[in-house]
Amino acid sequence: MNRPESVTALYPGSFDPVTLGHEDIARRTLRVADRLIVAVAETATQAKRPAFSLEERLAMLGEVFADEPRIECVSFSGLLVDFAKRSGAPLVVRGLRAVSDFEYEFQMAQMNRELSPGIEFIFLTPDAQLSFLSASIVREVARLGGDVSPFVSPPVLRRLNERFRDGAGAQES
Ligand code: PNS
Repeated sequence: MNRPESVTALYPGSFDPVTLGHEDIARRTLRVADRLIVAVAETATQAKRPAFSLEERLAMLGEVFADEPRIECVSFSGLLVDFAKRSGAPLVVRGLRAVSDFEYEFQMAQMNRELSPGIEFIFLTPDAQLSFLSASIVREVARLGGDVSPFVSPPVLRRLNERFRDGAGAQES
C-alpha cells in the first residue's frame, strides 16, 4: 500500500462529553497523522441517552482543541465508513483502554472492514493515568455532585457544572 504524502485520520465517538482520555488519544494521533478530524456521531452503536446535545458536544470539542490547528471537529450522521470516505480519511483511530474495550472495538472494526475494506483502523492506548476514564463515569460522578475537575478540561467542567448544578439531572438514568 502506498503511503500518501499527507495522512488524515478520523477519530469518531460519542464524546458525551470529551474527557482528558479522548484529548490524549487525539493529540497522540497527531504523532502518526498530519491532520485529525474528530467526529461526533449522531448514531452510537451502544446507544445511551446523551447528557449533551450533538451541538453541545461539538462546541466542547471545539473549545478543547482550539489550540490545535491540525484538529477539525465535526459531527456526522449515517455510517462511519461512508463519512470516512467522504472526508478523505483512510485511517480511523480509536482508543483502547483495557481488555474490556477489545471485544466491542474488534466487532466494530471487523464490521467496518466488511463494509469498506479500504479504511484501516488503528488503536492507541491512553496515558496510564487516564486508562480508567470513561465519559459515562464522568457523567455519573458529575450528575451525583462529585468533583470531575481532574478528568476533563475547564470548558467541559464548566458545562458539566451548569448541567448538573444543584443536583439538576441527578435522577436521570
Ligand atoms: O464513543 P462511542 O460511543 O464508543 O463511539 C462509537 C461510534 C460512534 C464510533 C460508533 O457507534 C459508530 O461508528 N457510529 C456511526 C454509525 C455506524 O457506522 N455504525 C456501525 C458501526 S460498526
